[in-house]
Amino acid sequence: MSDIRKIVILTGAGVSAESGIDTFRAEGGLWEQHRVEDVATPEAFERDPDLVLRFYDMRREAIQTKAPNAAHLALARLDAEWAGDLLIVTQNVDDLHERAGARRVLHMHGEHLSVWCTACDARSRWTETLIERPPCPECGKPALRPDIVWFGEMPYRMDDIFAALEDADLFVSIGTSGAVYPAAGFVRNARELGAATLELNLEPSQGTGWFDEARHGPATQVVSDWVEEILGPPR
Ligand code: APR
Repeated sequence: MSDIRKIVILTGAGVSAESGIDTFRAEGGLWEQHRVEDVATPEAFERDPDLVLRFYDMRREAIQTKAPNAAHLALARLDAEWAGDLLIVTQNVDDLHERAGARRVLHMHGEHLSVWCTACDARSRWTETLIERPPCPECGKPALRPDIVWFGEMPYRMDDIFAALEDADLFVSIGTSGAVYPAAGFVRNARELGAATLELNLEPSQGTGWFDEARHGPATQVVSDWVEEILGPPR
């Protein structure tokens, strides 16, 4: 670790699983309970906005009842104590990284607690429901949608992510299956750019072969152990 200064961490649903938030592709996971085509595409929103708004209203309410787990807390500690560059790129739309205290966080798939006005393009913090079509806080039009990147839409801040990958000495992937691009390709980008790569996941991901090292187990365990390895025991 002595020559590691710049770290990029990618997190996925697995980091929030032990907080009681369903992952997407596990048995009984979200995409078994709901068809992606019905709730997570712009076409679905066009076709049946009530179904989509109800789905995200339910998720937005649910995440506000959950708490960060030891993995979120360990990453927040790393964020606070790591003197070098650090960026936590999360695919997650919950706010558990921030509620654990992490600050250097980038939500590439959007956030549940944010809404996007399709009339004036403004984004606003939001904790309530959308099914009753409330007015946009900025323009007053009833044109709000969840601020979530749906399948077929471009993830957010890709330039910032690639700039961080270009500089990275270490790329760490936590709690993601490696099933969805462009996030699933970051490990290869990081490798090609000379970074060391580490996977921390419950089981081998689809891209596990691209990592220099992989440690498998629950995030609350493997992430806490890894952070303690770097920073030493909490004081
Ligand atoms: N600790 C560590 N890893 C875990 C845990 C845990 N407690 N529980 C599950 N995992 C791992 C699983 O082994 C799996 O590899 O987390 C991964 C979760 O995979 P997915 O459900 O596919 O979620 P994710 O990779 O985040 O999905 C990527 O797909 O549906 C879209 O936009 C959505 O951001 C999401 C993207």
